[in-house]
Parts: sequence; structure tokens; C-alpha cells
Amino acid sequence: MKSGEPRPDLEIAAEAVAATGIDRPRLIEIGCGSGYYSEVFAQLAPSGVQYTGIDYSPPMIARARERYPAAEFAVGDATALQYPDNSFDIAFNGVSLMHIIDYEKAIREAARVAARHCIFHSVPVFDEHHRTIFLQKYAYGAPVVEIVFDRREFLAISETAGLRLVRSWKSIPYDVAAITGHPSRSETFLFSVA
Ligand SMILES: C[S@@+](CC[C@H](N)C(=O)[O-])C[C@H]1O[C@@H](n2cnc3c(N)ncnc32)[C@H](O)[C@@H]1O
Repeated sequence: MKSGEPRPDLEIAAEAVAATGIDRPRLIEIGCGSGYYSEVFAQLAPSGVQYTGIDYSPPMIARARERYPAAEFAVGDATALQYPDNSFDIAFNGVSLMHIIDYEKAIREAARVAARHCIFHSVPVFDEHHRTIFLQKYAYGAPVVEIVFDRREFLAISETAGLRLVRSWKSIPYDVAAITGHPSRSETFLFSVA
């Protein structure tokens, strides 16, 4: 990215933010990890963003604060966000929905704190209609769940949470057909808060 060749998923994240048309939006990244999307948005989003990052892992937040001391970070759970309704222009789920077993609650919480838009970035979805499945892998020093979504179920839950689909982008390849027997991909979804 710094040498002018950003990874496609980073460009897609910035494009989704730009597609909201909001100048320097207040954006919360949910599941921010080490916080590097704060740098991505500063560099690639046309007007930048007013960034807050949350993650339920205290060591991740400690690392994010160390790396990006000027940005705002907090420990927080995607399924019980500590912010009032409509606190941000954009709730950006930063590639964490796939790790949250109660994803329905996480979608509702994102919709609650967002005044204008929700972006669910690089969500693993099946190419064809197939039920949502839960895989397990070892990552971040622990066993974690990795969910591949039934796209129609994901969209139905989002709609019930009061979100209206504006646009989606195919994100970087994510095909776990070798494990599931069904082709999958990752997709970034931009919603309006209805
Ligand atoms: C794949 S990483 C993404 C990190 C960062 N957004 C990125 O793209 O590099 C997923 C992150 O989600 C966090 N996470 C998982 N479940 C969470 C939850 N319920 N609430 C908040 N964060 C969560 C993990 O701690 C991890 O840092």
C-alpha cells in the first residue's frame, strides 16, 4: 500500500467507505485487531475517517495503541457494544463476523450504533445456496471458529436488523471447497441504516 500497490481488499474497504459519500465519517471498526485499517483509511479513503477501533482481545488493543498512538482504541465485544445508539456514521466490521458465533447479535449491534451505514468487510459466503457452516482453525494462539455464511441468511438477518443493501464487492479469494465440498468467496457488503 505504501509503495502505491494496495492489496485489493484494502482498496475495496476504502471504496466502500467512499461509496457512502460522507466527508470524514465517524467510523468504528469492530474487530480491529492490531488497528492497521486506521492506516488504510488514512491513506486510501478520499477524505480520511474519524476512526475508533474496538476488539475483544486486550493484547490486540495494546498492540494497536502502541502502533497507532494517535488513533482511538477500546476493548469491546461486537455482541454488546458499549456505545449509545447512532454513535457513528459507519460501523465497519473488519473481517471479524466470521469469528463470531452469535453473528446475528453482532449484526444487530452494528446496526444499532450506526447512524448511516454498516459495512461488513470480506465476509466468507458460499457461491451457491448452502447452509451456514462453522469451521474450526487454530489462530491467534487459540482454537477459533471460522464461519462460511449462507449469503441469503446473512442478508435476511441484516434486513431484519434494519439494514438495506446498497452494494457489494467481491473481495479477495476465499475458497474452502476442499474442506466443505462447496465453492465459497469473500464479499464486502455496504448497507444503509433504514
Ligand atoms: C481476522 S481478525 C481481523 C483484524 C483486523 N480487522 C484485520 O483485518 O487485520 C479478527 C479480529 O476479530 C476479533 N474478534 C473476534 N470476535 C470478536 C468479538 N466478539 N468482539 C470483538 N472482536 C472480536 C479478534 O480478536 C481479531 O482481532
